[in-house]
Amino acid sequence: MGQLFKVAVLPGDGIGPEVMAEALKVLDAIEKRYDVKFERTHANVGGAGIDLEGRALPETTVNICKASDAILFGSVGGPKWETLPPDEQPERGALLPLRKIFGLYANLRPAIIFPSLTSASSLKEEVIAGGFDILVIRELTGGIYFSQPKGIDGEGRERVGVDTMRYSVPEIERIAHVAFQAARKRGKKVCSIDKANVLSTSVLWREIVINIAKEYPDVELSHMYVDNAAMQLVRWPKQFDVILCENMFGDILSDEAAMLTGSLGMLPSASLAEGTFGMYEPSGGSAPDIAGQGIANPIAQILSAGMMLRYSFGMVEAADAIDNAVARVLDEGYRTRDIYQEKAGEKLVNTKEIGDAIIANL
Ligand code: NAI
Ligand code: MG
Repeated sequence: MGQLFKVAVLPGDGIGPEVMAEALKVLDAIEKRYDVKFERTHANVGGAGIDLEGRALPETTVNICKASDAILFGSVGGPKWETLPPDEQPERGALLPLRKIFGLYANLRPAIIFPSLTSASSLKEEVIAGGFDILVIRELTGGIYFSQPKGIDGEGRERVGVDTMRYSVPEIERIAHVAFQAARKRGKKVCSIDKANVLSTSVLWREIVINIAKEYPDVELSHMYVDNAAMQLVRWPKQFDVILCENMFGDILSDEAAMLTGSLGMLPSASLAEGTFGMYEPSGGSAPDIAGQGIANPIAQILSAGMMLRYSFGMVEAADAIDNAVARVLDEGYRTRDIYQEKAGEKLVNTKEIGDAIIANL
């Protein structure tokens, strides 16, 4: 018997359970091909948690996650729960606490445009010919979203809104290591984003990143101001490999990079803690508009499972096999409705059919 990994499976709401079923089929297929076993425990989260156990992140779910090596998360939310107080709603009530409880400080979002899907992008064909493969690494638990003091003081027109951006040396060091280690396994380039011409946090950020870079002589480091980076992403995305950002810059640039690919249902994400623990989920939401119809694109969820193998379980070969199987299925013309463009050679398929095709290509 080979390795055993414990996975907390949190399908959530809407299309979450539908796309999760396909990702679990892929894990079954990986078990057959590699000497590994994934012990999976299902738990309720989001609207499902509220309906079945009274809250978006039930205690039992937290305990199942704590007893696991990684979390595979679907998506949460929907119109049914939108009238609840904000902190009790599926997204805020589950995702933010999960990040906090598990110290998920590194958010990894690949923006990949597969060569056979370049016409889905809003960019000109010649800019993206051959596709691109960017990995945005965003610091997720520090910076202006969390630093104190923050709030609104005073009365009436005298009121003042305050936010603080704070980064410590250890916070910068650990996210920089994640970026360099990831770059080492792919294009060997890190572009660190800051605003060092005006922000003190950025001056420190740049100094620390340059220091950490000395431990990775095989990786090329460059620096870019965030405003220029926003421009360069739409001008020539292929210049980027790994993009390293603090929290707010990463929030904005990762959405921009994702949209360049033109297909939300294709993009996975990882949120990593210190060590090997991580949470893996699609970048999109629960898509209530198409839930229950069996037509959602499961690729983001399947690629998220692949990231789990890569970053939490060290199964690089199996993770590559999943990525390659997805690329081949797209080359063969399989399309769920969200990426179907009515072009010659395309085959319109449903959630299960594209999942089966990916497994057949593993
Ligand atoms: P959404 O991502 O659910 O949907 C946006 C559009 O993309 C919809 O037209 C949807 O059909 C489509 N789409 C998304 N994923 C798809 C997939 N896999 N295959 C095919 N089409 C797909 O975002 P929206 O509509 O803003 O939010 C819907 C619900 O999801 C809300 O309750 C929101 O709070 C929640 N949400 C949850 C997230 C999470 O669980 N991490 C993230 C974003 C939104
Ligand atoms: Mg965002």
